[in-house]
Amino acid sequence: MSVYGSFPGTRPRRLRTSPAVRRMVAETRLHPSDLILPAFVREGISEPVPISAMPGVVQHTRDTLRKAAVEARQAGVSGIMLFGVPEDAKKDALGSAGTDPDGILQVAIRDVRAEVGDDLVIMSDLCLDEYTDHGHCGVLDDDGRVDNDATLERYAEMAQVQADAGVHMVGPSGMMDGQVGVVRDALDTIGKEDVAILAYTVKYASAFYGPFREAVGSSLVGDRRTYQQDAANVRESMRELALDLEEGADIVMVKPAGPYLDVLAKIADSVDVPVAAYQISGEYAMVEAAAERGWIDRDKAILESLMGIKRAGADMILTYWATEVARSL
Ligand code: PBG
Repeated sequence: MSVYGSFPGTRPRRLRTSPAVRRMVAETRLHPSDLILPAFVREGISEPVPISAMPGVVQHTRDTLRKAAVEARQAGVSGIMLFGVPEDAKKDALGSAGTDPDGILQVAIRDVRAEVGDDLVIMSDLCLDEYTDHGHCGVLDDDGRVDNDATLERYAEMAQVQADAGVHMVGPSGMMDGQVGVVRDALDTIGKEDVAILAYTVKYASAFYGPFREAVGSSLVGDRRTYQQDAANVRESMRELALDLEEGADIVMVKPAGPYLDVLAKIADSVDVPVAAYQISGEYAMVEAAAERGWIDRDKAILESLMGIKRAGADMILTYWATEVARSL
């Protein structure tokens, strides 16, 4: 046998010979506390409603949401990100239900806080699309365009009602310019300096949000390309990052996760705040659909997808599999 380079002295396979040695040399480990569970709660239902494009995920009733929060905490998950789904009749142009102190999200925050206290980080989506009849993340001007600055006023109010309801951390996800600063200011103004901001710093206009639109009963016609980012760009993300940090982001997030691991890695390398990634509805749906057909090993594919996101630099991951995976670790 002819010999090239350092072979046969050097054999990387030695460190792969058994599960024990592989465990020893693993560079990345998933831990239950890395995981955050996104959860939907729908107004006016008495039984949970399955989301067909997300097998295994439901729109919760107030009651089943409380149970889901307890289960997540027991499994060691570190946080729960709440999305409210109002009754259709309560959707309007301004997304009024989003700032109603008795709106579904605010009610759910109070429920979950009463149930788990401070043992689980209670987080809330701060965005108008769940509450507007046109389905956009902001309010529209006379020409039907999303009005950035008018939307910021709505976000400020949302931040305050969510904080009053007892949320620990808000997640402004609408991609309006200036949203992090405005939300920080609104919180501080009412003495909620301790409520943290998980900034949707990098959020791409993605086809993979598809199943989420069903999950929140969104009536969106058209797309979000005038406010969410173009998949072609990375420098633009670094700019969004600088702005969010200046405005007071406590944690910065990249979303979606899987198709944007390069962006995640770059951001994780360049900040000194914690970095989150959101494994979104379409990423979930793809694995579930392929597994249902017997095309992939579901459990292994789930762990591998999460490992990839953590390896790329995420300190925490929002995933619809959070509780299940946390239990399995
Ligand atoms: C906006 C929001 C969206 C998601 C989280 N927050 C939808 C969107 O921007 O279109 C998507 C999450 C997912 O797809 O799992 N409120």
